[in-house]
Amino acid sequence: MIEEILLPAVAAAEEFGDRPDAVLFPEEQAVIGRAVEKRRREFATARACARAALARLGQPPVAILPGERGSPGWPPGIVGSITHCAGYRAAAVGKAAEVLTIGLDAEPDEPLPDGVLGAISLAAERVSLRDLAQAAPGPNWDRMLFCAKESVYKAWFPLAGRWLGFEQAHITLDPAGGTFTARLLVPGPEVDGRELTAFDGRWLARDGVVLTAITVPA
Ligand SMILES: CC(C)(COP(=O)(O)OP(=O)(O)OC[C@H]1O[C@@H](n2cnc3c(N)ncnc32)[C@H](O)[C@@H]1OP(=O)(O)O)[C@@H](O)C(=O)NCCC(=O)NCCS
Repeated sequence: MIEEILLPAVAAAEEFGDRPDAVLFPEEQAVIGRAVEKRRREFATARACARAALARLGQPPVAILPGERGSPGWPPGIVGSITHCAGYRAAAVGKAAEVLTIGLDAEPDEPLPDGVLGAISLAAERVSLRDLAQAAPGPNWDRMLFCAKESVYKAWFPLAGRWLGFEQAHITLDPAGGTFTARLLVPGPEVDGRELTAFDGRWLARDGVVLTAITVPA
């Protein structure tokens, strides 16, 4: 389902459970070997997805190691993003000549735990969520907002190389179009001499999962 919300220049792969046949490179094994079983499995399945997506771009299989602040280390000339949540794992990649950055996030389609919404949203976003719940019942819009913000961070980080707080982007979800915009409330990274001030994304809710994706063309 991930392809539905990505641009054609992006190659992706997804799994709805863990792949027992997922094989890690020794250097990947070295960084994840001591983690709990659940984390090792999601890490390995996400790597299998990433290598399947890279193969669709004509790229050979390589190790994808966590880099600066956890961001995945892609081969030269490649950008991408990884996500995993209960029952879902995915990776999406593009050629840097065609795609500037990708941000992907998946979450269970369940209400956020008590107390989380206040910590991850702006007052104006909470007003919009109330309107959305009345006008367009469907996915858990609070979770969708959170998901959109995490995809913003994953698209932002490779460009900016610094933290972006939940209060530093204003998300507007369009329930009908399956899209969202993220207006940056702090100075954005410069791209080709111009400041990036917003991200456009797409969302999808299916089979108990909410999914958001940002693709910025180069
Ligand atoms: C990093 C973060 C976004 C990960 O999201 P998550 O829902 O917890 O976890 P997911 O399973 O969807 O994603 C995990 C993957 O994100 C990727 N990731 C981690 N840190 C990253 C970073 N700094 N930049 C880009 N991608 C990153 C990794 O590939 C990781 O998987 P891996 O460890 O197997 O390689 C989240 O933990 C976080 O720190 N959020 C706070 C920042 C934020 O969201 N700000 C909102 C701005 S509006």
